[in-house]
Amino acid sequence: MAAQIIDGKAISEQVNRETAVLAAELMQKHGARPGIAVILVGDDPASRVYVNSKEKKAAELGFRSDKVVLAATATQAEVLAEVARLNRDPGIHGILVQSPPPKHIDERVIIEALDPRKDVDCFHPYNVGKMLIGDQDGFLPCTPWGVMVLLERSGISPAGKHAVIIGRSNIVGKPIAALLMQKAKGADATVTICHSRTPDIAAFCRQADILVAAIGKPEFVKGDMVKPGAVVIDVGINRIADPAARNGSRLCGDVVFREVAEKASWITPVPGGVGPMTIAMLMRNTLRACQMSLNLPVV
Ligand code: GUN
Repeated sequence: MAAQIIDGKAISEQVNRETAVLAAELMQKHGARPGIAVILVGDDPASRVYVNSKEKKAAELGFRSDKVVLAATATQAEVLAEVARLNRDPGIHGILVQSPPPKHIDERVIIEALDPRKDVDCFHPYNVGKMLIGDQDGFLPCTPWGVMVLLERSGISPAGKHAVIIGRSNIVGKPIAALLMQKAKGADATVTICHSRTPDIAAFCRQADILVAAIGKPEFVKGDMVKPGAVVIDVGINRIADPAARNGSRLCGDVVFREVAEKASWITPVPGGVGPMTIAMLMRNTLRACQMSLNLPVV
């Protein structure tokens, strides 16, 4: 069986087109322009790439976008001062502090200093709690929400399915589990989380109707770990050496794509699967934050 591709690029473009229309409407009816600020501490090359693509997408959608770049030596107090300034700025509806910050910065303290109404990453404990109890009027974390939208728009219902998630990070594994198990339309799955201390992860994976790989290990999931007909969502983005590639390396996910695509019914590619959805949902959260700031119904 050759799997159908879940085209994250096409689905994210669809979401972004809808966001652009809603943003134009917001401007026309209320004179409001969604604004996002991204704080980058240090010069990690991968983080710089992510931050630049967020800035580019915000501009494409007609949003205000501020980039705040602080030196790798910036103190915690300096980062907190920027957060406080952006919390007060009425033209900024969403604030994102690019993760991970340098080691001397306590990320938890920074996240808890964010105004929860501007926490478009959904990292603040207040928003994480709202997400967990299924509160509809908060934010959803961008990558997990992106995964749910990929499933929904591909016509895949998780209801009654066994979803197995590999990885228990606060950004991906834990929130995807929470969203998939929610008593709600587009959810209602039975969820298992596997992690570094799980014995025989492969045995769990083989029971999955929906397998989510979010472990950060290149090509961890092999063909023989997948049940025939499973839906496979690959959240990994890894760069590995490849002598055959022009620059000596290539991007790959947490899944051996070629092997797994032979057995799965649906699969996300890397790149072009989950990746573009994260930014699309970040922009949608920023639009929602702007709508909430005006006491408008959120969409
Ligand atoms: N680093 C990797 N992914 C993310 C994300 O979604 N948000 C933030 N703030 N940092 C990240």
